[in-house]
Amino acid sequence: MHTIFSGIQPSGTLTIGNYLGAIQHFIELQKENDCYFCIVDEHAITVPQDRLKLRNNIRSLAALYLASGINPEKSTLFIQSEVPAHTQLGWMLQSISYIGELERMTQFKDKAAKSAGKEAVSSALLTYPPLMASDILLYKTDVVPVGEDQKQHLELTRNLAERFNNKFNDIFTIPEVRIPEVGARIMSLQDPTKKMSKSDENEKAFISMLDEPKKIEKKIKSAVTDSDGIVTFDAENKPGISNLLTIHSSCSGESIENLETAFAGKGYGEFKQATAKAVIDILKPIQERYNELINSEKLDEILDKGADNASFEANKVLKKAKKAMGLGRVKKKR
Ligand code: TYM
Repeated sequence: MHTIFSGIQPSGTLTIGNYLGAIQHFIELQKENDCYFCIVDEHAITVPQDRLKLRNNIRSLAALYLASGINPEKSTLFIQSEVPAHTQLGWMLQSISYIGELERMTQFKDKAAKSAGKEAVSSALLTYPPLMASDILLYKTDVVPVGEDQKQHLELTRNLAERFNNKFNDIFTIPEVRIPEVGARIMSLQDPTKKMSKSDENEKAFISMLDEPKKIEKKIKSAVTDSDGIVTFDAENKPGISNLLTIHSSCSGESIENLETAFAGKGYGEFKQATAKAVIDILKPIQERYNELINSEKLDEILDKGADNASFEANKVLKKAKKAMGLGRVKKKR
């Protein structure tokens, strides 16, 4: 039995990339482990957000977690901003993070490059990784399941935990990262050399978990591929088809080799249709459950209970970390 922690930003409707790279694996892991799944809304505000959209996205993400199979009887599902310990420890970890190492984070560099100059980049975008480290370390996490793009943040988390333990006291568990073998990096349908992202401006580049079947068919049909017409996996020379093979395989459970054999001699049209079907088959039951949950009181009850449980556990570790750093007072026994 391990402790598992992972988080997802409520910065738009989740994509099939988030599902295949992350959520799908959470469902497996929760069977035999003690799991915490978080809606990391304080991470989302590191780039500008519309207040009402953010609120909707938070609720929507909670419903999607549950609709995908997170079982609130087994796992703790909660909203980051409802557990103040996250930002408290986040601040403490910032104080042992170096600006140089934060500036080296690829995600920071990418997002900062997209914004117009340093004035438009919030300082929170730079200090995002110590907050992420805090999320993980507060729960004595052993394993963090994530997609490939989070690997560097996980390395920094381990470094910060070790740095803190060496400098102050041995408080934090050093977490392991777990990245799936297939589906760790689902690519954009319009530019298969780029990661599929929920914040992509081009809607055709991603499949949202809430897209209707017709829309999914359309998006996969218009996915960018090469023109040689052979369904084989070759990420370097055939990134578009390889991406669709990965999506098909992760949704249907068929191995990529089996799919290559099944579609040998058949055109991209037929293969794309089958890929769309595999995606629709996996999303349809999730969407049905989502619609039942999204406006339910049950959702609020689950999130309330989740925040209570998470706070209880997180405060224990926070207390130890504050003491180790010398913050606050030690109350004298009278
Ligand atoms: P976020 O919200 O960008 O993504 C959530 C999860 O989905 C994975 N993912 C993908 N996997 C495969 N293919 C893709 N195209 C794809 N896009 C996203 C991500 O790797 C991630 O696992 N910093 C995190 C959120 C976070 C967190 C944490 C994660 C905050 N605190 C603590 C783990 C532990 C993020 O921005 O994920």
